[in-house]
Amino acid sequence: MRFQSYGVAGVLTACLMSVPALANSTGITGYSGKTAQTCTTCHSGGAAPTVEISGPDSLQAGATGNYTLIIRGGAGVKGGFDVAVDNTAATLAAGTGSKLQSGELTHTAPKPASGGEIRFDFSLVAPQSAGSVKIFGAGNSVNGDGAVTLDNSATTSKTVTITAAPEEDTGGCSATGGAPVMLFSLLAGTMTLLRRRRA
Ligand code: HEC
Repeated sequence: MRFQSYGVAGVLTACLMSVPALANSTGITGYSGKTAQTCTTCHSGGAAPTVEISGPDSLQAGATGNYTLIIRGGAGVKGGFDVAVDNTAATLAAGTGSKLQSGELTHTAPKPASGGEIRFDFSLVAPQSAGSVKIFGAGNSVNGDGAVTLDNSATTSKTVTITAAPEEDTGGCSATGGAPVMLFSLLAGTMTLLRRRRA
């Protein structure tokens, strides 16, 4: 009973406070496929969907990349997702219809399919140093009956290479500053020459 009332409170406050909600239709973390646990631990009986994470394969250190988790097939009426990363120096940011919860991204409500797809946009802020970030994603394709039956999920992962930021970017001096600076030194050089000649 105590548990149940906590669940109801969780649904009401999840969006405002990011309190981990016990009702799974409003989002669930820890089932991205980063560990052996996936949504299929509870949801089963439906056809398996395919899940894809689309977005850049490499990012510069500190840069933000836009990604989309796409669910196709399966029961296909609505869907939910869970995305996690293996690198604590990387930051995930939620797009429309999703939220950050326990460092992972998940849906705020079952999202209706559109054009045979259920898409969740999110962004990834790369760590400040070169390396890699592995994104784990689980997508659950559900029949919309508000229960775990006749649903099914699939997982995918994507490794993003983080490249070192080029020197110019870290100096705070943009490439466009190059031309005026060169012109200025040329002028200064000419002036010195002229002055020397006059003397
Ligand atoms: C521990 C068991 C459990 C796990 C794991 C789980 N769910 Fe659920 N899920 C439920 C239960 C129970 C319900 C029905 C109650 C509710 O709506 O919250 C549900 C409902 C849903 C619904 C609505 C289903 C429908 O047909 O209307 C979606 C969408 C959903 N979950 C997404 C997910 C996603 C995405 C994952 C994996 C990242 C996941 N769930 C993992 C237990 C679970």
